[in-house]
Amino acid sequence: MIDGKDMTQDDDAQDDSLFANDNPHQLWARLEGLYLSCELKTLTQRFARDPQRTEKMSLRQGPLYLDYSKHHLDQAILNALRQLAHNQGFEQKRQALFSGEAINQSENRAALHMALRNPGLETLKGQPLTDAIRETRQRIDRFATQFCRGEIKGFTGKPLHQVIHIGIGGSYLGPKMLHEALAAVHERKASCHYIANIDGNQLNQVLAAVNPETCLVIVASKSFSTLETHINARAVRDHFLTVMSEAQLKHHFVGVTANTAQALAFGISEERLFPLWDQIGGRYSVWSAVGLPLCLTYGPEVFAALLAGASDMDEHFRTAPAQNNMPLIMALLTVWYGHFFNAHSQAIVPYDHSLRLFPAHLQQLVMESNGKSVKQDGTPVSYSTSPVVWGAEGTNGQHAFHQLLHQGTQFIPVDFILPMNTGHQRQSHQDNMVANCLAQSLALMTGRQQADIRSELQAQGIDNETAELMASHRACPGNRPSTTLILDDLSAGTLGAMLALYEHRVFCEAILWQINPFDQWGVELGKTLSQSIHQQIINAPEAKGVDTDQDQDASTRQLLALYREARDNKAKAEKENTKATPTQSK
Ligand code: F6P
Repeated sequence: MIDGKDMTQDDDAQDDSLFANDNPHQLWARLEGLYLSCELKTLTQRFARDPQRTEKMSLRQGPLYLDYSKHHLDQAILNALRQLAHNQGFEQKRQALFSGEAINQSENRAALHMALRNPGLETLKGQPLTDAIRETRQRIDRFATQFCRGEIKGFTGKPLHQVIHIGIGGSYLGPKMLHEALAAVHERKASCHYIANIDGNQLNQVLAAVNPETCLVIVASKSFSTLETHINARAVRDHFLTVMSEAQLKHHFVGVTANTAQALAFGISEERLFPLWDQIGGRYSVWSAVGLPLCLTYGPEVFAALLAGASDMDEHFRTAPAQNNMPLIMALLTVWYGHFFNAHSQAIVPYDHSLRLFPAHLQQLVMESNGKSVKQDGTPVSYSTSPVVWGAEGTNGQHAFHQLLHQGTQFIPVDFILPMNTGHQRQSHQDNMVANCLAQSLALMTGRQQADIRSELQAQGIDNETAELMASHRACPGNRPSTTLILDDLSAGTLGAMLALYEHRVFCEAILWQINPFDQWGVELGKTLSQSIHQQIINAPEAKGVDTDQDQDASTRQLLALYREARDNKAKAEKENTKATPTQSK
């Protein structure tokens, strides 16, 4: 009972304004009470008590359908959570985002990724960047059209038809994820290889797979100073220089960056440079020229459809009232579970092979955005912020981590993502895929009670003690929540809408936690330290290495020493090998 109400009954009469007079303390106390009331009913009981539950707790927006009925929610909880969003300034902050205000306070800049999807956005009128965005899009379209027609030629005059995309983090995850996802229904017109990590083996494999004579290299780096991208770009450049001259390189390299000077210094020609801007965060940059490999692979019209789908979601997010606002509803769930149910992680399980990289993309989007522990005003938060995001494609995950979802000790809300029409004709595959996805959310919710299992075993003639023991291992507690996000299909427009939905969800979560989702200062320290450690590795210990090593802790010193030893041994072995077989040394 809360405030004299019996909270075991779903009370649909409560409207949004009911908690408007709560001060922040009262609202938290109310939410706490509502949380305690969840103990009184299971998810299955909620369905049994309200035949309209699914209708009330589902939402269609364009090609997406969100079912959030399998959650520990009722109307009063939703109202209180929406009131929380309102109190945290949801409406004003959303407006600030869409009018290009400098909401990324720690870097004093706006976040304008929506302008990439629609530079004509009415609310951004007057923003100087929109003209540059429009112009760049035209250039991207022109370049991609020419590439697809075979009009972009290499140093020997042959058309370029292979692509290497070099970039990492936001300059890699979005394009690579969509490269895989779009393949389900869109035809690839060129082959594209992605290089992100500083892994010599991967680099060698990609270089072995392309012919420099017909290959275009995209170097995508907002800063143009990211170590991994720099090293890989240099290595590819050196490889290309084995068959072409410095002057001819310009036919084969394209740059996407906000750091024009560095890109020019690298040797990319001005007409092959596509700009990025400070107001576009790396993890939101796939909509910019960072998406160029997608344009080249699938054609500019597919890229345009992707942007249009995202733009439709922007419009929904910008205009829909809180009770029908898809990104906000998803964000409310994150905060509800994070605060009250101690949920520290969020599983993302797309039931489609082509979406297998979506969890990895979301890891950067969610955790780099909301893995923060101070509020916008610099004061520490006193609550958990971003959950750990993880997951993999279904049904594969069922044979790996679903055991933990069903019987583990952690409370993990799951997002099931399920495309309806996947483009292929193998109906039986798709029927089984859908059946498995629906079965998982059902099994998480209903579980299987120990008493029922015990009775079944006893009915089979198993003695009581054994039946009890066996049942204890087999029981699934159930009552575990999940969202099902249905995608009408896997077309570019649908994927664009889905991606934008998650971007805005992250923004709403940040509003609720009062943090800044658009900076990422936390990644800087490791980057800086890696540079000094790299110096220690390449400097011989007897030179300056030994001295600088003393600055470090014993563990790091020992690890460095182990690596140096392995490195020296490898060099010695190579030297001896060269002496022994001089003819093979080339
Ligand atoms: O890892 C941090 C980060 O700055 C990301 O935010 C960014 O997406 C990635 O590195 C790559 O940066 P850049 O595009 O500047 O090479």
